[in-house]
Amino acid sequence: MRATVTGQNHSGRIALKRRSRDACSQDIGKTTMIGSRSINMLRDGLRSIPVAALVGFVSVCHAQSAAKAQGPAGDAHAPSITTCVACHGALGAGTASGGPRLAGKDPDYLAHALSMFKAGTRASDVMQAVASNLSDSDIRDFATFFSKQNPPLAKGAPPPSQSLVIAGKQLAEMGAGSTIPACFSCHGAGGKGNGARFPDIAGEPAAFVVTRLHEFQARAKGKTPPAGSMTAVAAMLNDTQIEEAAAYLSVTGP
Ligand code: HEC
Ligand code: HEC
Repeated sequence: MRATVTGQNHSGRIALKRRSRDACSQDIGKTTMIGSRSINMLRDGLRSIPVAALVGFVSVCHAQSAAKAQGPAGDAHAPSITTCVACHGALGAGTASGGPRLAGKDPDYLAHALSMFKAGTRASDVMQAVASNLSDSDIRDFATFFSKQNPPLAKGAPPPSQSLVIAGKQLAEMGAGSTIPACFSCHGAGGKGNGARFPDIAGEPAAFVVTRLHEFQARAKGKTPPAGSMTAVAAMLNDTQIEEAAAYLSVTGP
């Protein structure tokens, strides 16, 4: 089934137009199921779920099913954007608890990430479960939608100290010592990304950057990473540098 965005308001509520006439109630069930799973994982993210968004979604569904007595029987399992923003913040802004920012990222990067979760080649229990229900055209629709959003940065709680932010800026722009390259040498000026391969990292919540860099480090322990890969860069970073980079990126506008 295809989920198409038909409108949104300032609080990040999104109305979806769906082709399938009977998918709505099942989708809501799916949203609720994923929502309750995520309670343990991303409490802060969940706190920011606009309950109104779910209500809005229900009424859209209602109108849709009333209006569309005929329609192709679609795949009733595809999640909605309401599902995504529960963990990724309104319009994909990211969440203080570590839901990554999706807004403004390269659409091909986002689509590739979703395909990797679907294929099981990128780790994440939660995202593998979400992506397993997405068709290729759903993946394209979600990627396009989030690539076009530009919500304000997710607020860190508490905000990072100024000294961490300054040290992180130095690392991002200049690198460290003779071995650690500047983050922005690959991730583009200001961390705004460079094509589909080098993601936009500006504005990522600190908690996500820390988790993700630890994940790359764990991968580097398994086997020697290819030179010039993110795994190789992460393997050279110590915990202080990770904190610094995370602090700086979390306050740097994309
Ligand atoms: C229950 C919480 C949850 C839900 C629901 C969820 N996500 Fe995620 N998503 C995450 C987490 C956590 C990560 C980080 C995974 C990692 O790399 O460890 C992530 C990662 C991603 C990434 C990779 C981002 C990057 O920069 O590397 C994309 C793309 C993504 N999600 C898209 C979506 C879309 C689209 C939806 C809705 C269809 C969705 N997610 C629903 C929690 C969620
Ligand atoms: C040699 C090039 C290179 C350098 C230098 C580099 N990165 Fe990366 N980085 C990458 C690539 C490529 C990816 C995508 C990896 C993937 O998708 O598996 C990535 C991914 C990431 C991600 C995950 C983003 C997401 O949305 O999932 C973070 C966070 C990150 N880099 C932070 C940093 C930081 C911090 C530095 C500096 C200390 C840095 N990178 C330096 C190439 C680089």
